[in-house]
Amino acid sequence: MTYFDQVTEAAAFLRAELGPLTPRIGIVLGSGLGAVADAIPAPTIVPYAQIPHFPQSTVEGHSGRIVAGLLNGVPVVILQGRVHFYEGYSPRQVTFPMRVLGALGLRAVVLTNAAGGIAENYQIGQLVALRDHINLMGFNPLAGPNEPRFGFQPGSGLRFIDMTEAYSKRLRALAREAAAAEGFPLEEGVYLAVSGPSFETPAEIRAFRALGATLVGMSTVPETIVARHMGIEVLGISCVTNLAAGLGLKPLSHEEVCETGRQVEHRIARLFERLIPSIAAPLAGAK
Ligand code: HPA
Repeated sequence: MTYFDQVTEAAAFLRAELGPLTPRIGIVLGSGLGAVADAIPAPTIVPYAQIPHFPQSTVEGHSGRIVAGLLNGVPVVILQGRVHFYEGYSPRQVTFPMRVLGALGLRAVVLTNAAGGIAENYQIGQLVALRDHINLMGFNPLAGPNEPRFGFQPGSGLRFIDMTEAYSKRLRALAREAAAAEGFPLEEGVYLAVSGPSFETPAEIRAFRALGATLVGMSTVPETIVARHMGIEVLGISCVTNLAAGLGLKPLSHEEVCETGRQVEHRIARLFERLIPSIAAPLAGAK
C-alpha cells in the first residue's frame, strides 16, 4: 500500500468517526499544552492507536489522541500530542497526521509548540507567533518523489513550493488581535528547528541567534512544510517554556518544559476560543 493510500485510509476512518462534523480548521497541541481540548463540549475522541497507520507518540506530555467537536461553535479537529523525528520516526511518519488533516479537507491549521527562548526580551511562559522558520533539522519531508494527489487545495501539491509566507500574515494579524483582546501582547519570532533530542549547547544558541532565530525547538517545521505543500494556511504559536541553553541559570529539562506548558495552557485555550471563530469566518461554506 502506498503512503498516499495509507493517508486516504486513515482519513476515511476519521471521517466516519466524525460523522456530520466537517472541520475546516485543525489545531496541533505541543508539549504540556493540552488544555484547549477541554474547551470542547461533548468531544469525539479518537486515540491515535485506533487510526489505521497513525504513528504513536512515545513522549511523556504528549497524549496521542484526536479530539474533535465545536470550539466556541466552530468545528475543529485537534491533534493532542505529536510524534517527533527524535523518537525514531521517519520524516514521512512525522508528517502523516498533517497529511491526514489535508485529506480531511482542512484549510487552516494552528501549530503550537514548546520552544526555548533565544531573544533576550523573552520571558518564560510568553506566547510568540511565528513569522518565519529556519530548518536545521537536516531533512525536508517533501524529499522523494512528489505526490501531486496531496494537492487537495487548488494550485497545491507542486514539486517546488513557495515558502515566502509559510506562516500566514492574515492568521498572524488575527492572532495578535485576539491576544490583545485577552490582555496580553503577542510578539512575532523566528523559529529554528533542530532534530533533538539533546538540547542545544550554549555555543549553538549563540550561533542560532547570529542566524536570526529568536526561538528554538524540535517540531512544527516538517508539519508546516507539508501543510504548505497541500495549500493549507498555517499559524505557528510557540510557548517559551524555558530560556535557551546558556541564557538561564538552571540546566534545561523536559520537566521544566512541561511545567511551563501547564502554567500557560489555559491562556492558550482562551486565546483559541476567541481566535478560531475569526479564522473560520471566511472559510465558512468552503468545500
Ligand atoms: N530547545 C529545543 N527544544 C525545546 C526547548 C529548547 O530549549 N524548549 C522546548 N523545546
